[in-house]
Amino acid sequence: MNRRHFIPGLSGILMAPLLPQNAFSMFTEKTYAHVPQNEMEFWPWVRSQFRTGSFINLNNGGVSPHALPVEEAFFNYHRLCNEMPTYTMWRTLEKKREEIRSKLAALANCVPEEIATNRNATESLVTIIMNLPLKKGDEVVLSTFDYPRMMNAWKVREQRDGIKLRWVDPETGNPDKETLKNRFTEKFNKKTRVVHLTHMINWTGRMIPAREIIQEAKPLGIISIVDAAHSFAHLPFSVSEMGCDYLGASLHKWLAAPFGNGLLYIHLKNLDKIQPFFPAETDMNHSIKKFEELGTRNNALEFAISDAIDFHNVIGTKRKYERLLYLRNYWVNEVTKHPKIRVITPLQKGESGVIGLVEIEGKQAEEIDSFLYEKYNIHCVGIKHHQVNGVRITPNVYTNESELDKLIEGLLTLADS
Ligand SMILES: Cc1ncc(COP(=O)(O)O)c(C=O)c1O
Repeated sequence: MNRRHFIPGLSGILMAPLLPQNAFSMFTEKTYAHVPQNEMEFWPWVRSQFRTGSFINLNNGGVSPHALPVEEAFFNYHRLCNEMPTYTMWRTLEKKREEIRSKLAALANCVPEEIATNRNATESLVTIIMNLPLKKGDEVVLSTFDYPRMMNAWKVREQRDGIKLRWVDPETGNPDKETLKNRFTEKFNKKTRVVHLTHMINWTGRMIPAREIIQEAKPLGIISIVDAAHSFAHLPFSVSEMGCDYLGASLHKWLAAPFGNGLLYIHLKNLDKIQPFFPAETDMNHSIKKFEELGTRNNALEFAISDAIDFHNVIGTKRKYERLLYLRNYWVNEVTKHPKIRVITPLQKGESGVIGLVEIEGKQAEEIDSFLYEKYNIHCVGIKHHQVNGVRITPNVYTNESELDKLIEGLLTLADS
């Protein structure tokens, strides 16, 4: 007997409400009515909502910290779950998960029936990559700058099923949008079954024109998979406009939900075409919920997605993107005046976001990373991948100008040394 069948069969005495009906709302009803709205006060208020300490965290692209109200909600959910785990997690689960599904769908601009939550973007994308029905000789177009776990999954399918991988180089020559699009579409042929697109490349911050590529793929019957780990909740975003078949995103990056939350989108028309790793009841075959049959999860983490969305909405996606671009340009405009410093991220709006990849002539990625950490308390990440050899800088909504002034000073000092 599984959990879904067990619950309706419980006896009356077990069904008695042991926790107050509104146990969740007790913790989650937050008001943000007091938040100052003018820019001068708004961003310091946002900063006050995060745990900032002696470090300057410029690796928010790896995993973002969550805001204090989200942290508090998560702890409270955890306490509540810990009081009576099965009651709280299982009997309230369905309701809370549906609320989250609807809120995520509103953010992604699709219908709730197309959204599943899980643990991370890897789980979403590898589920799709490993389970798509493909046969020997089928071709997949992907890029050398996709995320390693996804590239590895495709390589496993190449070995296991005899599919052919056609690799695109999206970075060489700093291609404009049109050139980039053509690099993908010119690989399409009669055998192409799938195009895998990393919407925002994690190494460099370059955006792949997913919508334009998908527009060309669709009439050819090519299935599109989008890795939106870095673009979801980072910039204005609409899955429906993008038109992809499948999409995976992390919720612990730019949405700043607690660590270990992910999103899987599947277009309604594809729900029957793919199976999850963990088989669900056959009556769930037409439902996105079959991808949520993952066994016991940390529901407190999951419930706090709702609070992360509320916090995100206090800022608003458009305002957030503008702020992130401002912060990226603040440091980039200063450091690129130095002849030895090069930022390889394209800087046009719509072609990138807050991620900036900076190289210093004659310096290795590790050297820049450890110099900034040891001399300036700045945490970022060294990147060496194909021709890229620098550090990736990812501020966040709570980053302020004085932190970026330290970064500028550090990079200029190292370039002069
Ligand atoms: C482009 C891209 N895809 C997927 C992932 C994996 O994300 P997660 O840790 O949520 O599985 C990352 C993580 O950095 C990423 O940058």
